[in-house]
Amino acid sequence: MNIDVFTLFPDAFTWFRSQRHVANAMQQGHALECVDPRATTPLRWGQVDDTPFGGGAGMVLRVDVMEAALRARYGVDPVELPRRRRVIALTPAGRQLDDALASELAGEEELTLLCGRYEGFDERILERFCSEQLSIGRYVLAGGELAAMVTCDAVLRKLPGVLGKDASAVEESFSPALGGAPEYPHYTRPADWRGWPVPDVLLSGHHENVRRWRLEQSRLRAGDPLP
Ligand code: 6GU
Repeated sequence: MNIDVFTLFPDAFTWFRSQRHVANAMQQGHALECVDPRATTPLRWGQVDDTPFGGGAGMVLRVDVMEAALRARYGVDPVELPRRRRVIALTPAGRQLDDALASELAGEEELTLLCGRYEGFDERILERFCSEQLSIGRYVLAGGELAAMVTCDAVLRKLPGVLGKDASAVEESFSPALGGAPEYPHYTRPADWRGWPVPDVLLSGHHENVRRWRLEQSRLRAGDPLP
């Protein structure tokens, strides 16, 4: 899949792109590219934002600047874009990212993520150029960059072959494989540490019992009654 992240702070993604699973994804032919709207701004001095009409604190990303950036990237009037690809604005009030949405996005060939800064986007960007808005939780971040990285992380790790073992992304917290419940606990060596033992069943080598114990633990964590 190809993910384009529109951000005024492309350098913020340097560390993220070096993460093992992200580097793996790139090696397999997936792409994560940053596009800086400042590079194509039609305004002088690299201006990209402006004060809000009606007054108030902060700065708002300009619609003409985002239009120029999207047009330069995709070669079409950006009002056409939402019909052709998912163009997702990262906003605190958007649809909340969850496992199901991450899986859905992982099924897309192309994704565009728009990071706002300051007070956010001119509303016309959201209305005309975007297919949806996405939030990573009910709190406010200073910008969309961290939210974009969270989204890319959750999506990229769903792609086949990106994690070391494909199974790691199947039976994990909130996945359909666990009925949406949190994941079961994990243990590794030493089997006993300071008198804190590992549950016997995990050392038993009895795969069916291990499977049952894990499902049970997962359901307990979800607060669900056991069947
Ligand atoms: Cl997507 N953006 C910002 N600025 N704050 C957020 C968010 C996004 N999701 C949660 N808080």
